Amino acid sequence: MIDAPKTQASVKEPDIRSELHPGGEASYSRALPAAAAGNTVDTTHGVILYLENINVVFDGFRAIKDLNLYIGVGELRCIIGPNGAGKTTMMDVITGKTRPTSGSAFFGQNIDLSKLSETEIANIGIGRKFQRPTVFEAHSVLENLELAMKADKRVWPTLRSRLTSEQADRIAEVMETVGLTQAYARQAGLLSHGQKQWLEIGMLLMQEPQLLLLDEPVAGMTDAETERTGELFNTLKGKHSLMVVEHDMDFVTQIAQGGNVTVLSEGSVLAEGSMDQVQNDERVIEVYLGR
Ligand SMILES: Nc1ncnc2c1ncn2[C@@H]1O[C@H](COP(=O)(O)OP(=O)(O)OP(=O)(O)O)[C@@H](O)[C@H]1O
Ligand SMILES: [Mg+2]
Repeated sequence: MIDAPKTQASVKEPDIRSELHPGGEASYSRALPAAAAGNTVDTTHGVILYLENINVVFDGFRAIKDLNLYIGVGELRCIIGPNGAGKTTMMDVITGKTRPTSGSAFFGQNIDLSKLSETEIANIGIGRKFQRPTVFEAHSVLENLELAMKADKRVWPTLRSRLTSEQADRIAEVMETVGLTQAYARQAGLLSHGQKQWLEIGMLLMQEPQLLLLDEPVAGMTDAETERTGELFNTLKGKHSLMVVEHDMDFVTQIAQGGNVTVLSEGSVLAEGSMDQVQNDERVIEVYLGR
């Protein structure tokens, strides 16, 4: 879980609180979680995402075929599969970027994603991380997180020139979660590739998403950064539901632990189960080794 940043005499840490309150005390108000934006997601059955009989056809090519997939609340689900299996297309369907030719996609039991725009889907609590980091390079880590908060329309009415104490706490907490507390003043453009990725994840976390979609998050990272990212995801699960698409099998093994791994192939679920189960599945071995 997340520890509040500690300020100890023995450890030289930046005083984020004073950075965040340049003008002194601000009025108190609260950044509302996504659900408070109007649509309250109903997860009483323990499921955050329902994809049922989804088909996506591009000019006659069936990129997704009768796909059925369910993600539990707080689950960390790994999605693996060969190139062209439809993993990214599935994320495009969830976020409204691509509309399925048929089938249904629901957020919780009650929110029909086909009825919402891409922006609305982002605002109800589905955050997506693309492969390339898209941070504001000329701004500091802290400013990027502030901007992510300001980009959140739900916060606009309460956001004036200064952050509230609660917003400042939230930024400090997210910085600690993604391991960038020490680098808070650094210009984002000067961060390592891994740190940029963590910053972008932090920016997503500012919106308090219930479901996070991460497409190849460790591509291009060093081994140490990859491992640190695995630790980060392990702290995020439970609090958030995560869908992680990755080709790096060591990383998948690190984060899958006892959880379920879904193997996509040619637009459908080929296998689903623990990492051990799917790795020993003959059909999975066949698609990975080629026919
Ligand atoms: N907009 C599009 N128009 C036509 N075909 C597309 C489009 N988007 C994806 N495809 C095709 O759909 C199939 C699935 O692509 P997708 O990008 O979802 O695969 P993926 O599993 O994410 O692969 P990778 O592991 O390489 O990222 C591929 O054959 C791809 O060429
Ligand atoms: Mg892809």
